[in-house]
Amino acid sequence: MMAAIRSSRAVFGNFLQKNLCPAISARASSVWAGVPMGPPDAILGVTEAFKKDTNPKKINLGVGAYRGDDGKPFILECVKKAERQMLEEGLDHEYAPISGFPAFTSASAALAFGDNSPVVKEGLNATTQGVSGTGSLRIGAAFLSRFYACKEIYFPAPTWGNHNPIFKDSGMSIKSYRYYDPKTCGFDFNGAIEDISKIPEGSVILLHACAHNPTGVDPKPEQWKEMSQVIKKRNLYPYFDMAYQGFASGDIDKDAYALRLFIEDGHKPCLAQSFAKNMGLYGERAGAFTIVCSDKDEQARVLSQIKILIRPMYSNPPIHGAHIVSKVLNTPELRKEWLGEVKSMADRIITMRSMLKDGLASEGSKHNWQHITDQIGMFCFTGLKPDQVDRLIKEFSIYLTKDGRISVAGLSSSNVGYLAEAMHQVTK
Ligand SMILES: Cc1ncc(COP(=O)(O)O)c(C=O)c1O
Repeated sequence: MMAAIRSSRAVFGNFLQKNLCPAISARASSVWAGVPMGPPDAILGVTEAFKKDTNPKKINLGVGAYRGDDGKPFILECVKKAERQMLEEGLDHEYAPISGFPAFTSASAALAFGDNSPVVKEGLNATTQGVSGTGSLRIGAAFLSRFYACKEIYFPAPTWGNHNPIFKDSGMSIKSYRYYDPKTCGFDFNGAIEDISKIPEGSVILLHACAHNPTGVDPKPEQWKEMSQVIKKRNLYPYFDMAYQGFASGDIDKDAYALRLFIEDGHKPCLAQSFAKNMGLYGERAGAFTIVCSDKDEQARVLSQIKILIRPMYSNPPIHGAHIVSKVLNTPELRKEWLGEVKSMADRIITMRSMLKDGLASEGSKHNWQHITDQIGMFCFTGLKPDQVDRLIKEFSIYLTKDGRISVAGLSSSNVGYLAEAMHQVTK
């Protein structure tokens, strides 16, 4: 018996020695000694530097979160009312279904595609709740990586910084098509069409449904029409990212124009939605992911596989934000109030754009700042060069990302004049 134990120990010991991963055997000090320091997040880095600055005139234009004219985080009235009602109803804290509450997913899909859309009416949408826009994009990326034949996705150049890692980490390879024209600070329509026409058939193409981040540059309706035709001709698979519905124009239907046009044109796209911006629910992580299917049977099969992807990732989604969203969207008075509040947020941003442009003119700037008001949504790609951005930070305590992007939502009637003065000084 003892001999048997001794020999099994010897065998096991040999096995360990032979099979020990070289990284572990070589390093006795710590298992993680070889983990390199990662670079800080570009946007959070801006906020850190802002916090340390003691200049009373400092402005943070890095963060993509809406602020009221008082510069403070903004809680929508309809959200406060929905939360009060939820408290009165005494909602429990049970698990949500894997794909979220049906009241939430149906309302989200109807908001995006329109109440009368055949997609919604015929139940062709395989919609799941996602962990806000990011998590919804990630579910879609994982689904494509597992089930879609082509693993290449084309992004507009530039695109939101998180698109790259979301799709890369899901096993997709990333390419790009021309989008922003630095010469005009506008849309490079010809460049986009030329590039899209050459994308290999069957590839995935990522489209910002509205309020393109980081540029604030959106195609015009006629340009969307042409893009839709070219995308169809090339047999590309459209992946819409709609993080700002209502936030661009103030009108939820207008902002869903591109998505709905693609449906009319016969595309069967997928869609990631976020309620972070348009309901001010940033930390609640309420979003949705939809794949438009050909028939009910396909919808059921696709949704079953989406659930299989979600279950080992996070099991089921957070419930608080989803309850708020479904209450607001499904209660007529709250919905009406929300539509008004979305418009007021979008209008404030549009007003700030005009005030900035006018402020630059009053400062005596001779540059063409038309793009400030031509661009739309939360962000403005100012066209400022990295050295000018550096001067804004160092000399004026105005914080923004190196690419010259400002969050217009961070401006208010009391600081927009200071920004205009500073921008004029660094671009003279
Ligand atoms: C283009 C785009 N997509 C998706 C998101 C996702 O945001 P969240 O995960 O906060 O909903 C953002 C947020 O900044 C965005 O700008």
